[in-house]
Amino acid sequence: MTQEKQIFIRDVIPADRPDINRINADGWEYAYRGIISDGLLDTMLEKIRNYTPRLAGKTSAENDYKIALVSTNSAGKITGFAIGGLGRSQTISETNDVWILDALYVDPNVIGTGIGRKLFSEWARRAITAGAEKFIIRCASANKSCGFYDKIGCKRIAETTDPNFENKPVTFFEFDLKDFK
Ligand SMILES: CC(C)(COP(=O)(O)OP(=O)(O)OC[C@H]1O[C@@H](n2cnc3c(N)ncnc32)[C@H](O)[C@@H]1OP(=O)(O)O)[C@@H](O)C(=O)NCCC(=O)NCCS
Repeated sequence: MTQEKQIFIRDVIPADRPDINRINADGWEYAYRGIISDGLLDTMLEKIRNYTPRLAGKTSAENDYKIALVSTNSAGKITGFAIGGLGRSQTISETNDVWILDALYVDPNVIGTGIGRKLFSEWARRAITAGAEKFIIRCASANKSCGFYDKIGCKRIAETTDPNFENKPVTFFEFDLKDFK
């Protein structure tokens, strides 16, 4: 795939929700068909497509600990999103809130063109500005996107199974912001 020449990153606005829902659902289809059962995946897709999920429900402005970004092309079309903030990591044993990149999804039509790296980097820069020193990402171990996190410099720090995900293994990645520019 050739690299996307112009990638713009901006804060999420409420009008972005339908596009975020669409890319979220298409990304789930791309990432998880064949990894979890069709039954669970189809139930998840139904929810994501028909209901405003928590991911699209929180703009940076609405919730000051959330960093919610979209990428667009030069025509203004949304091509991906990155959302996260300070929260509980759910299954990794942490007593305090930790910084989490909750979701990073690129439209499958333009995957592999540099958008994921740009969204990741901009989200990391915003996290530094908000006071983060590191953040974590959780990703199903069988999801090929784990290779992206390895490539971009994340460290694998733990693996657990997730009861909400048919007890499939989930990998926790950590990204250290100390040396990130
Ligand atoms: C993971 C994801 C966001 C990556 O975005 P992307 O736009 O395709 O990634 P980029 O094109 O910016 O790639 C950046 C680098 O990572 C590498 N890379 C991307 N995906 C990779 C993969 N699956 N395995 C190994 N390396 C990968 C690229 O080759 C590139 O390397 P380079 O800079 O040396 O050329 C995207 O694949 C995606 O949306 N996947 C589906 C949804 C998903 O599973 N999200 C994660 C849920 S936790």
